[in-house]
Amino acid sequence: MNRAATSKSRYQRGSVLTAVLATVVLGVGVIVGVVALRPVTDNRDPEPSVEYGRLLVRETAAMMGPGHEDPAMRYSGTYMDCASCHLETGTRPGTLSLLQTESRYPRFSGRDGGSRDLRDRVNGCMTRSMNGRELPRDSVEMRSIEMYIQNLNDQYQIMGETRRQPDEPPPFVEPDRAADPVAGETVYQERCEVCHGEDGQGLPASTDMREGYLFPPLWGPDSFNNGAGMTRVLTAARFIKARMPLGQPDLTDDQAYDVAAFVNSHERPQRANLEQDYPDLTNKPVDSPYPPYADNFPIEQHRLGPFGPIREYYRSLEETDDR
Ligand code: HEC
Ligand code: HEC
Repeated sequence: MNRAATSKSRYQRGSVLTAVLATVVLGVGVIVGVVALRPVTDNRDPEPSVEYGRLLVRETAAMMGPGHEDPAMRYSGTYMDCASCHLETGTRPGTLSLLQTESRYPRFSGRDGGSRDLRDRVNGCMTRSMNGRELPRDSVEMRSIEMYIQNLNDQYQIMGETRRQPDEPPPFVEPDRAADPVAGETVYQERCEVCHGEDGQGLPASTDMREGYLFPPLWGPDSFNNGAGMTRVLTAARFIKARMPLGQPDLTDDQAYDVAAFVNSHERPQRANLEQDYPDLTNKPVDSPYPPYADNFPIEQHRLGPFGPIREYYRSLEETDDR
């Protein structure tokens, strides 16, 4: 069902492009083509609005991707959309929903070591999940995304109890063992490859990358960078168990865990200065895949688990702390 919804916006965009190409081929003129393309590539609104915010989250590649005709608008470093992870533009209850996000900010961020508001959090995804650069805090784009997320919260307040219920499998329960990327490769081949591709590079919607992806990449140069939340095996497994394969999320906990490890065993863009994350290292999640750590467990164990012993260690620190 959501697959159909996704395709619809893509095909609508595709048909604009086809019309443009046809126009050019028929010799009616490039000018008409450029004008027709404007909604996709140059749709900046001078005033912040919920609608513009929604567009930025849904069609990020076109609105502020690396191929934007105005270099100043190239904020995202990938042709993925925010909606590649925040499914159905964040409107769907459940995993990575944005419906209740506004009510959670400002809040303490262990990663940043201080209180962070919603705009900071959006920039967290811009610079990590989207491998891009920060949106200026007071830009029309940032204010629009914020307005959109606030509007989702307003919608949530008036949604009935039934519509608030996430339509997804029971939450991921972490197996009591290390994740196995080799077993994960088999899961990938059987359940993911058909959409995300043999090489994990996904499938662009058209030859014009500004149209974004039909199926986004899971690793490689156009994927999220190594500082993104999705590189944590537990975060990825939670998302995958809840949402993938798209339209048929039926993996076991073991399969989700292993395939998450397989996905994250590949090369992806590298983010500088990751060692500055988590100024207080005891706040670092057990599955953060990059050092330094406040413990002596091997990096492999932080990447793949088992995580029980690591949690146990930090718990024992708290117990011996007699302040
Ligand atoms: C590769 C996947 C991915 C992409 C793409 C992505 N995000 Fe995220 N986003 C995440 C993950 C993972 C979290 C963390 C959820 C958690 O803390 O449990 C998150 C969290 C957030 C939050 C905080 C949610 C909350 O309720 O606390 C906001 C806001 C957000 N993202 C906005 C965006 C925006 C805007 C974009 C596009 C510019 C974007 N994200 C792109 C994966 C992604
Ligand atoms: C039927 C096609 C399909 C299958 C099969 C599928 N996915 Fe996806 N996946 C998608 C689409 C489409 C999106 C983007 C969400 C959207 O556009 O609604 C996505 C998004 C993702 C994302 C977040 C975005 C990104 O690119 O990082 C991850 C991670 C992911 N899928 C992992 C998997 C894994 C692991 C499997 C196998 C267990 C899988 N998917 C199977 C279609 C599919």
